Amino acid sequence: MEAQNDFLEFREIYNNGEKGMMVELLQAKNVFSRQLPKMPKEYIIRILFDKRHEVLVIKKNCQTIGGVCYGKFPEVGMVEIVFLAILQDHQVRGYGTKLMSTLKNNLKHRGFHFLMTCADNLAIGYFVKQGFSSKITVPPVLYKDYLKSYEGSTLMQTILDERIDYETLSYKLRQ
Ligand code: ACO
Repeated sequence: MEAQNDFLEFREIYNNGEKGMMVELLQAKNVFSRQLPKMPKEYIIRILFDKRHEVLVIKKNCQTIGGVCYGKFPEVGMVEIVFLAILQDHQVRGYGTKLMSTLKNNLKHRGFHFLMTCADNLAIGYFVKQGFSSKITVPPVLYKDYLKSYEGSTLMQTILDERIDYETLSYKLRQ
């Protein structure tokens, strides 16, 4: 369980050439490569350090315990979730939900309209609980040229609603 004096922090990181950011990106890479063992390390590094991608990391007492890496396509209002992971010792404690609702709030304020992902089939249950669906209603013309797909994955979407505060919503749903 999360102790009362645990310090949780979310940080958006990206490759801007600064040393501090490089260190943060490498810490995120360690989480992804540990929790997504089927993804080649070189591929994770390439995506993380690609300037079109960002990572929202969750830190507990200054340690990176999880993150979500995403690509932005502002021309169609879309964000693609590429990697998502919480370190094993910290899973199923609500951190993945906090990460996703913080991401949705951040992206909503930046004018993005929908999120898509090729969800690992073992993680579909998690994505459904975060409001994603495999029933795709977004017209293919908006996403088909952009998405990366993987074997053993399912395409999922969620539409962002600018009236919703996702952090408050996920807190209320858990009560
Ligand atoms: N399958 C089904 N349900 C799940 C899963 C799963 N793999 N993981 C969590 N849940 C459920 C939880 O039981 C919880 O249910 P509840 O609200 O009824 O209690 C709900 O989803 C939210 O769980 P959290 O505790 O907020 O999620 P967690 O912190 O464990 O993070 C995550 C979920 C990121 C999937 C984590 O378990 C993980 O890192 N798994 C290994 C890596 C992985 O599979 N990543 C996703 C790959 S797909 C991609 O990267 C695009």
